[in-house]
Amino acid sequence: MTTALTLTDTAFRDVVAAAVRAPSLHNSQPWRFRNRDGAIEVRADPARRLPVADPTGWALRIACGAATLNARLALAAMGLAARVQLLPDPTDPDLLARLTPTAAWQTTPAEEALFAAVERRFSHREPFYPAPVPVHARVQIIDAAHAEGAWAEILNGPAEIEVISEIVRAADAALSADSVYQGELRAWTRSERDERDGVPASAGGPVPQADDLLPRRSYGGREPSPGGDFDPDPLVVVLGTATDAPIEQLQAGIALQRVLLTVTDAGLAASMLSQPIEDPTARDNLRLALGRTDVPQMVLRVGTGRTGYPTPRRDLTEVIDKA
Ligand SMILES: Cc1cc2nc3c(=O)[nH]c(=O)nc-3n(C[C@H](O)[C@H](O)[C@H](O)COP(=O)(O)O)c2cc1C
Repeated sequence: MTTALTLTDTAFRDVVAAAVRAPSLHNSQPWRFRNRDGAIEVRADPARRLPVADPTGWALRIACGAATLNARLALAAMGLAARVQLLPDPTDPDLLARLTPTAAWQTTPAEEALFAAVERRFSHREPFYPAPVPVHARVQIIDAAHAEGAWAEILNGPAEIEVISEIVRAADAALSADSVYQGELRAWTRSERDERDGVPASAGGPVPQADDLLPRRSYGGREPSPGGDFDPDPLVVVLGTATDAPIEQLQAGIALQRVLLTVTDAGLAASMLSQPIEDPTARDNLRLALGRTDVPQMVLRVGTGRTGYPTPRRDLTEVIDKA
């Protein structure tokens, strides 16, 4: 039997500060945190689930899974091993993860590197430089997903990417035609950076063009520079899990974050395309195109980019619940 270690308030706040750097759909930050009975609780914030884009809570669980990995890495960086339980209490469905520090821990170099990437990671929506992603980084992406119980497939060559881009395009067209969906997206798009949530236009990348290979969402950014394709040869990664059960969606969020931090640590950048996951037909077509019987959870583009535009987060006092 392992005994929980007591976490000071300062250490708890440091862990939460790392957790909230996780990505979330439209930067909705659908999480809350509590330091209770020697454990850190990662809780859903149902008021911040996006009712139109996320009717089932999939995106909320991806985001909270990602926050859980950041918290685990923050504890490891403090020299604490933690037991992580997902959905530990059936009577408390908003309790998505509990991290119990159990013992002193010698932080590994890999944990140090991933933790250092937490602050540097951001969604990079600019075109990438035309430099191929090195083979060892591709292997690291696949290994990172596997290490957290998920899978990652890297699409090879223009023919495969063209198939996937058709699926993303169909999903994007369906969501673009939905005025309620677009209204919600606009409500989370910010023109100013001083808002503490939502996606600032400055982080949104150039306005998508009809002939872009991978249709991106429009966050009201600037017009693209004239001439040249947005990303003629992107590295596209699909991440997934064995099933679509809520616990696997949390696991997918943990794996997604490990992939994103691994990419950041390798000096690369990434952004997400979730239209083909949100649209059920597209998600099924994506699965079929990959020849898989399990479940895609996210599409990513990865490449080499300039330094970018981290998005803001709410103050910690707004996400911490009393014990
Ligand atoms: C479930 C989920 C879906 C997302 N879908 C998209 C997407 O389709 N397009 C996009 O540009 N970013 C997408 N993002 C990234 C968020 O917009 C981003 O994480 C958020 O704005 C915070 O910014 P940051 O990643 O730079 O910290 C998604 C993130 C999550 C967790």
